[in-house]
Amino acid sequence: MLDKMKLWKSQPISSNFQERVMRIKKQEVPSHVAIIMDGNGRWAKKRALPRVAGHHEGMKVVRKITKLANELGVKTLTVYAFSTENWKRPKMEVDFLMKLPEEFLGTFLPELVKENVQVKMMGYREKLPAHTLRAVESAINETKNNTGLILNFALNYGSRAEILEAVKHVLNDSNNGIISEKDLNEETFSSYLMTSELADPDLLIRTSGEIRLSNFMLWQLAYSEFWFTDVLWPDFGEEHFVEAIEVYQNRQRRFGGV
Ligand code: FPP
Repeated sequence: MLDKMKLWKSQPISSNFQERVMRIKKQEVPSHVAIIMDGNGRWAKKRALPRVAGHHEGMKVVRKITKLANELGVKTLTVYAFSTENWKRPKMEVDFLMKLPEEFLGTFLPELVKENVQVKMMGYREKLPAHTLRAVESAINETKNNTGLILNFALNYGSRAEILEAVKHVLNDSNNGIISEKDLNEETFSSYLMTSELADPDLLIRTSGEIRLSNFMLWQLAYSEFWFTDVLWPDFGEEHFVEAIEVYQNRQRRFGGV
């Protein structure tokens, strides 16, 4: 276990990057990759910049990794952009983070459309500012018929709240005779979660050296492979994503079996 949890040291960018990409494509590519994009604040601090500069740089990395994930054949990329706990941050930072989806989609949506990417969102929509929600909903709508990579933004997302809400929904459906105890199993319960239309992540990546889940997809990550790196999210490059997938392809997933 300890061995599995150790940080992976990043390798230098290899000149045979394209070869590595080709090799990856020949093996089983993780269908769903989820990323906790951490370290934006520290990246900015190291450069004596305001924290929001780190978030802005981090936004550009989302674009880069989406493109690569799509090229590698990943089906779903979930990125933790804002948690239900992030409202505790200074108002100026929260306001900035809430403007990023507009900037991201305003800049990159035409490219995403061209690349057949489908935008989705999981999280509590009610508390999001109207301008944030408008940008996201419009991107979801514009890309709904696309059939390539699903770029799933976890925005105002919290896993405990999600599970609790699902339990309440099940109870309500049970009271109304829509579901009975005998029909409730892992599969039916999963259909009450915000990820009902998605497969569980095969691979979780967290950057910046923190080894925790921070209330992210607690149910869905039950059998995922974890890969941690001490690279800060704004410094996360294609070579790191490729490295994470190479490590994943060398792991043996047993799902509790032998
Ligand atoms: C955690 O780093 C990061 C966040 C809370 C925000 C992540 C958001 C982005 C990378 C941009 C999202 C892009 C779009 C398109 C919506 P931190 O601020 O906690 O870093 P620290 O631990 O170094 O302080």
